Amino acid sequence: MDAVELLRLTLRYIHLIGFALLLGGFAVQYLSGKLRINSAMLWGAVLQVATGVLLSSPWPGVDHTYPKIGVKLLLAVLIAVMVVVPRKRAEVNRGHFIGIGAMTLITAAVAVFWR
Ligand code: HEM
Repeated sequence: MDAVELLRLTLRYIHLIGFALLLGGFAVQYLSGKLRINSAMLWGAVLQVATGVLLSSPWPGVDHTYPKIGVKLLLAVLIAVMVVVPRKRAEVNRGHFIGIGAMTLITAAVAVFWR
């Protein structure tokens, strides 16, 4: 494996850690019944946009599906705004909070099923 491929796979690895932080942070708050934005969700949402954009640059030997990337970028930016704006509130509306979790799951489904 060359250095460029190692860098791409490292970014993909961090992208998956960002997903784990975002969904894991959401699950912990949802199951505890206290619907607030925690720092795992905050870091996860920001990491997803940053690593996703880097992963979408032209890498040797990688063919991107740009409509899929566009849909993911739109969903991820919406998630990030919904996480960053109310991050200091003690609690957010139930609909807002569930929207973050649902959009995270939809974005992961787009990543996996859109070929
Ligand atoms: C909450 C937001 C996001 C979630 C939950 C998410 C989830 C995922 C998952 C689960 C994978 C692995 C799919 C697989 O290997 O089959 C993936 C890969 C990828 N994501 Fe995301 N993603 C998000 C945001 C983004 C954004 C904003 C972009 C680009 C602007 C992006 C671009 C990519 C690319 C290019 C890959 C492929 C990496 C590879 O195959 O080497 N993602 N994403």
